[in-house]
This record gives sequence, structure tokens and C-alpha cells, in this order.
Amino acid sequence: MKFNTDEVNQLIQTRRSVFPRDYTGEKVDDAIVKQMLENANWAPTHKFTEPWRFVVFTGEGLKKLAEFQAQCYKDVTTARVTFQEDKYQGLLIKPMESSHIIAIGMKRDQKKGLPEVEEVGAVFCAFQNMQLTAAAYNVGCYLSTGGITFFEEAKPFFGLGEEDKLLGFLHIGMPKGALPPGRRNPVEDKVKWVN
Ligand SMILES: Cc1cc2nc3c(=O)[nH]c(=O)nc-3n(C[C@H](O)[C@H](O)[C@H](O)COP(=O)(O)O)c2cc1C
Repeated sequence: MKFNTDEVNQLIQTRRSVFPRDYTGEKVDDAIVKQMLENANWAPTHKFTEPWRFVVFTGEGLKKLAEFQAQCYKDVTTARVTFQEDKYQGLLIKPMESSHIIAIGMKRDQKKGLPEVEEVGAVFCAFQNMQLTAAAYNVGCYLSTGGITFFEEAKPFFGLGEEDKLLGFLHIGMPKGALPPGRRNPVEDKVKWVN
């Protein structure tokens, strides 16, 4: 198959994180979200463990996520004496600003045949496939690793066990307008060639 390499390069470089404040409120077509998930499933995977797991929240599901994450935050931070009311209120309302939210998890291989870092790496490859697919359809998204992402207590709600990891929440919505320019330091600063 022949690809338009200029378009591929452009897709990768012009993809931007688009945040809920820049969503129109319009619903993203489920078919596009399904395509994002399908492409996620084609991420590279060492020993074919396919460790990515997704829970898609939309419609009433966003309210269920909001209620769960706010309560989970309250329970955990009250016990740790770090509770902040504004964070709690944010967790209670923010999910409804997105069309869909995909909770992204890593399911640890039962045999633990690979170092955990490889399994986490594969899941982030899947996440990038979703981001690029969204960009190709002019759909906005961004990954949040805040809130309850790293709370052990949150994992069962997303079907994850003790050895698994919750890695973040992909927020999805229709972008309001043009995307901002990207910002990166030159790749040459991060590469050494050995000839
Ligand atoms: C692993 C990872 C975690 C991230 N977590 C957050 C986050 O918690 N909050 C946030 O605002 N953006 C988060 N982002 C998105 C970054 O802010 C965004 O990728 C960065 O600003 C570069 O912008 P670009 O994606 O438009 O190139 C995360 C991105 C990655 C790859």
C-alpha cells in the first residue's frame, strides 16, 4: 500500500492535545471512537500480550464516572488528610465537559513474562494510535493523568486488579476552532548518530 507521506508527517506533527474548555459540547460520533479503539488494538505488543484495556464513558456513563471519581478522591484523600474541596468539585463536574472519556488501563500478563515497563509502553503506543486517529477525523482529545489515576483504590471500578495499572483518562470532544501551533525543541538535541 502506498501512503501519502507528507500527510502522515503532517498528521503526526499537527496533532495537538485539545482540552475540554475548547470542546463545543457536541457529541463525537461513536463510530469514530470505535475506530480509535480499533486502531489502539493494533499497537505493537511484545509477545502479543496486548495489555491495553479500555472503559468508554459517554452519556449517563460520564455522570457515573464523575460520581465514582469524586467519591474515590474524597475517601482516599480524607484518609490521607490531603482532601481539597475544589479538586473534589472539579472531579464531580469535569467529565460532563467531554463527549467521551476512555479510561486506559494496563492488564499485567498472568505469567509476568515481560518487564512491567514494556507493558506500560505498549499501552502508551495504543494511546498514541487513538490520539492520531482522533486528529485524522478532526476530533479533539487529551490524556489526563490527574485525579484518581494513580490511586490503587480506583482500579477495581475499571476492571483492573492489583497487578494492573490505571494509566489515565483520554478526554474526547469536538474542537471549537483552529488548533494552536505545537512546541518542541529540535530532535537533534536528543539524538546521537553512531556511524
Ligand atoms: C503520559 C502523558 C500524561 C499527560 N497528562 C496530562 C495531564 O494530566 N494534564 C494535562 O493537562 N495534560 C496532560 N498530558 C498532555 C500534555 O499536556 C500535552 O501532550 C503536552 O502539552 C504537549 O502538547 P501536544 O500534545 O499538543 O503536543 C499528558 C500527556 C502524556 C503523554
